Amino acid sequence: MSQARTIILGIETSCDETAAAIVARDENGQGEVLSNIVRTQLDEHKAFGGVVPEIAARSHVQWLDHIVAQALDAANLGYKDLDGVAATAGPGLIGGVLVGLTTAKAIARAIDRPLIGVNHLEGHALTARLTNNTQFPFLLLLVSGGHSQFVLVRGVGDYERWGTTIDDALGEAFDKVAKMLNLGFPGGPKVEEWAKKGDASRFKFPRPLLREKRLDFSFSGLKTAVRLVAEAAAPLSDQDVADICASFQSTIVAILEKRCAQALERFNEEFPDEVAQMVVAGGVAANQQIGAALHQVAAAHEAELIVPPMKLCTDNGAMIAWAGAERLVLGQVDKSNIAARPRWPLDSDDMKLGDHHV
Ligand code: KG4
Ligand code: ZN
Repeated sequence: MSQARTIILGIETSCDETAAAIVARDENGQGEVLSNIVRTQLDEHKAFGGVVPEIAARSHVQWLDHIVAQALDAANLGYKDLDGVAATAGPGLIGGVLVGLTTAKAIARAIDRPLIGVNHLEGHALTARLTNNTQFPFLLLLVSGGHSQFVLVRGVGDYERWGTTIDDALGEAFDKVAKMLNLGFPGGPKVEEWAKKGDASRFKFPRPLLREKRLDFSFSGLKTAVRLVAEAAAPLSDQDVADICASFQSTIVAILEKRCAQALERFNEEFPDEVAQMVVAGGVAANQQIGAALHQVAAAHEAELIVPPMKLCTDNGAMIAWAGAERLVLGQVDKSNIAARPRWPLDSDDMKLGDHHV
């Protein structure tokens, strides 16, 4: 592209955040967030202890236009200033994805600018390039309410999934443990808070798959073990709850430490001439005990740990705008009939820069 600065609107509606942002990318690949508006639907889902897809989709319909207008206002820009419109095209709750993608299609058509359908996971994967100008290759650890995976990021569209969860996502495990202890939703921050007052050595929980070499996770057995302990100890005193939380969280930390060490060893074997970089994304990255453990593992492997600011680690429009910008400058834009996809693994063939796009 000959233009010096590429300005992209990004829309994210794949879960329970209605988000829009404006991001600029200069010709050297430096990014700047011009605005980043996120409206969380937390209160609408709270009573149900989790995200209700139908409520989420309706709420996106109700709010998205306002959120987009706010994003433009906050950046002091109008539609005509945009060079492209990006929206999450999957994976995620399909009703919500459809709302965002359809809105993006309409805006792109109305202002006659390219549309970029972004894989939500690619948004997380490339955020560190927006915030830290991180160079390829790097390792991504994505730990959110919907995903838990290691991804080798070789380039835009060039991803290799090294491991994933075979059942629950890590954030989901936190949420489910919080639910069974009646701590409220979202559970991660509550479990972390309670864990501070607890004795982590009181309960020994299983560490599924940990003896195996693969980089996959499994959290459902751990969750069941927590349930059995909670049932056996009922009625639970505050100290019991704190001890369960502390024991659960320290088990998670041990699992992550082991897996991250293995992933970094593999990275160092595959790229002996590179300083390993590990980028962390997803809401679980907010957990301080987990963060401290990851710093230690990275230091022990002479790797750099990159944790973007939390508001860009959790779901947001800026990461979608940025991924859109990265794709647009490589000439990869989409047709207006691109489909919304509930499932869309990062290492699927159609993520590669290739021919399904225009
Ligand atoms: O990335 P995110 O905001 O949304 C998506 O899932 O896409 O992640 C939310 C998840 C929730 O499951 C929440 O419980 C978890 O991140 N989480 C935490 C903490 N803060 C948020 N888990 C553990 N410790 C925390 N401090
Ligand atoms: Zn996400």
